[in-house]
Amino acid sequence: MDGLNVGVAALDEAHRDMFYLMGDLSEAVHAKSVRAALAMARDFVAKVEGHFDVEGEMMTRLGFPGAAVHQAKHAATRDKVIDLERALSDENLGLASSILGELESVYFRELLNEDMILANYSSAQAS
Ligand SMILES: [Fe+2]
Ligand SMILES: [Fe+2]
Repeated sequence: MDGLNVGVAALDEAHRDMFYLMGDLSEAVHAKSVRAALAMARDFVAKVEGHFDVEGEMMTRLGFPGAAVHQAKHAATRDKVIDLERALSDENLGLASSILGELESVYFRELLNEDMILANYSSAQAS
């Protein structure tokens, strides 16, 4: 899990929490536990939105120059997580599974790269 750390404790904790939630969601989807997966997907939407708000405030406070790009990635990811929730509420497990795969392999990775840039900017401002 060290590979997930960007070095800002509050962000790292939230990332870890969402990463584990995605793992649980994958298990529920593979076990075809639609109700459990849907409940987790709703929790995931709330966590993602809350986390992106925290980072958005941080970017505003720092006057972070990469904010527009970063916020666009947040918006695309939030839309994907909402697609996941919709797929589960339609009981479309195949679609849910492919969306989860994309979130894990592409979105989460790209977001961590962006967060690393933000964390580095933040620590450079503090020093
Ligand atoms: Fe971010
Ligand atoms: Fe983040």
